[in-house]
Amino acid sequence: MTAINGPRWLGRPPETTGRRLAFGADYNPEQWPREVWEEDVRAMRHAGVNIVSLAIFSWARLQPRADRWTFDWLDEVMDLLHAHGIAVDLATATASPPPWLTTAHPEILPVDHDGRTLWPGARQHWRPTSPIFREHALRLVRAMAERYGAHPALAAWHISNELGCHNVHDYSDDAAAAFRTWLRERYGTVEELNRAWATAFWSQTYGDWQEILPPRLAASYPNPTQQLDFKRFSSDALKDHLRAERAVLTELTPGIPVTTNFMVMGDTKGMDYADWAHEIDFVSNDHYLLDQDRDELSFSANLTGWLAGGEPWFLMEHSTSAVSWQPINTAKKPGGMARDSLTHVAYGADAVCFFQWRQSAGGAEKYHSAMVPHAGTDSELFRSVVDLGATLEALAPVAGTRRRRAAAAIVFDWDSWWASELDSHPTSRLRYRQEALDWHAAFAAAGVRVDVIGPARDFAHYDLVIAPILHVVPRALADRLTAYVTGGGHLVTTYFSGIVNEHDHVWLGGYPGAFRDLLGLRIEEFGPLRDGERVELDLGVSGTLWSDRIDVTGSDVKVVASYTSGDQAGRPAITTRPVGTGSASYVSTRLGPAGLGPVLARFLAASGVRSELPAAVAGAVELAVRTGDDADYWFLINRTDESVAVDGVAGEVLHGPCLAADLRLGPRQVCVLRRPHGS
Ligand code: GAL
Repeated sequence: MTAINGPRWLGRPPETTGRRLAFGADYNPEQWPREVWEEDVRAMRHAGVNIVSLAIFSWARLQPRADRWTFDWLDEVMDLLHAHGIAVDLATATASPPPWLTTAHPEILPVDHDGRTLWPGARQHWRPTSPIFREHALRLVRAMAERYGAHPALAAWHISNELGCHNVHDYSDDAAAAFRTWLRERYGTVEELNRAWATAFWSQTYGDWQEILPPRLAASYPNPTQQLDFKRFSSDALKDHLRAERAVLTELTPGIPVTTNFMVMGDTKGMDYADWAHEIDFVSNDHYLLDQDRDELSFSANLTGWLAGGEPWFLMEHSTSAVSWQPINTAKKPGGMARDSLTHVAYGADAVCFFQWRQSAGGAEKYHSAMVPHAGTDSELFRSVVDLGATLEALAPVAGTRRRRAAAAIVFDWDSWWASELDSHPTSRLRYRQEALDWHAAFAAAGVRVDVIGPARDFAHYDLVIAPILHVVPRALADRLTAYVTGGGHLVTTYFSGIVNEHDHVWLGGYPGAFRDLLGLRIEEFGPLRDGERVELDLGVSGTLWSDRIDVTGSDVKVVASYTSGDQAGRPAITTRPVGTGSASYVSTRLGPAGLGPVLARFLAASGVRSELPAAVAGAVELAVRTGDDADYWFLINRTDESVAVDGVAGEVLHGPCLAADLRLGPRQVCVLRRPHGS
């Protein structure tokens, strides 16, 4: 295998001379007549496209009947792309089963929580645990690998598509059977499961594995540990499908790297990607701007980069302009597409790809933007695509470099996400990801770089660790965080953290049980706030959503801020406990990005973490840094729609305005500076 960027990157690319960033899209030639294909490849070359993802939804076209295969059209497309120097990230094509299969085997269709079948007619209508679906899917994977494994255009395998986008939680009988097997492996005996699920409550004690079901529509709230385990199981069931496809590919084409496109974005929370990242050769992600929310984009890109362990990752899909599945789908402003793309590169992406190459004329996504819009190549949008291709070419030196670690980190944990948002809690309004995102936005506003990391990472790399709503805290994690603080680290955690163990059982003795001693606090009752209710803090900021009735138990605890209104008026709202040269701090309410500003400033000062940017641009300009053998690459991203002067940042300009000494970033503009090590 010839690797461009490292052992886990694309294999057999058409141009192996030197490193470069990949640029391209999902390519769906089956939607177009043959003559359009020639036009496509010419326009791809013109735009600098060097890779496409192919055959993602082609199952019906490749296997129109159980015993009939029609590969000729795909052979032709593969050859055509190769002849034009365009590499292929080839899908296993298993994402959307064809009508003949669901007609012959309706028992592969998923069943929702309420017992309703999800019928064919859209996509991804398959049960992750269906043995029949698995058998047919693997047959297709085998056929694809046998046919194209040696094709010179093949650079990577793209397993399925966005596994779990529509079918992660399947409540069918297949799922029930697989859930039982999973539980047996986890607990060994029914007695152990009864203990973990606290089934003494509401007369739920099981006597046999067969009695156990997924948490289907019930008369009241299903058992919370059953719900949490079902989320874990569902993520694992899809991971198992990923592994099954992967095993076929590894057997037949061991030299070709394998990926699958994650969806680290918005509220997509069904798949524990921190766990999945080990199953593939390189991480890929699909990201769509939600209501033009740039903070969310940066957060997602940041998290994806750390799922990839700081190594380069592949932006498999984003949009050139509007999408078609939000309530209102607005177009990107001029420069917006390039800024979004380069933000992903800033956080470690070595590939910038879109859904899709040519905007569809028919079908469900015909109003979704693409690289070639309905207007054709004579369009502003296509010209900006061509410009982006040239920019990525100029950024070739960045390819293969890693993320430069920040001095601060935000911990992001799927178990806590799943468990903290279960029903029957003090409030149904809590949003786990939003709290993490608010902290990320507060860092951006302060102009301070931060990494978003999983709880398994080594905290010792960081001077400051923020663990927002770290709700599920097994003993080992509590011990690791305690060791981090006693070793001189600065830990900040928030409301509803340290509350339960891995079985969703409360740590007893007062909240937050797992961190009570470390923080020097004790909380007897939570104080959730009503919609619209605000509580004031003497720091001049106000909180929503939550408050706690805090008793300070540690004599060394300092009150950073107190409530001045609401039920907790006069009581501590934010505390810190010095521990040697480290500290453990607690924020008991939701402050939002603006309210977190002054609070974060204190924690930054206490931990010695500083902005690397001139103070004047903090907030307006976002900095992300990649690092190579001989230089760092600074990405300065103008987050605003105004132009911003950046004084005092030097470096060789790889992209952007050329006057590095007197840098002025236009609206939405990005500048990339090369800064040799030691300069
Ligand atoms: C993704 C999907 C693509 C396309 C795109 C539209 O979820 O993988 O096939 O549907 O969204 O934004």
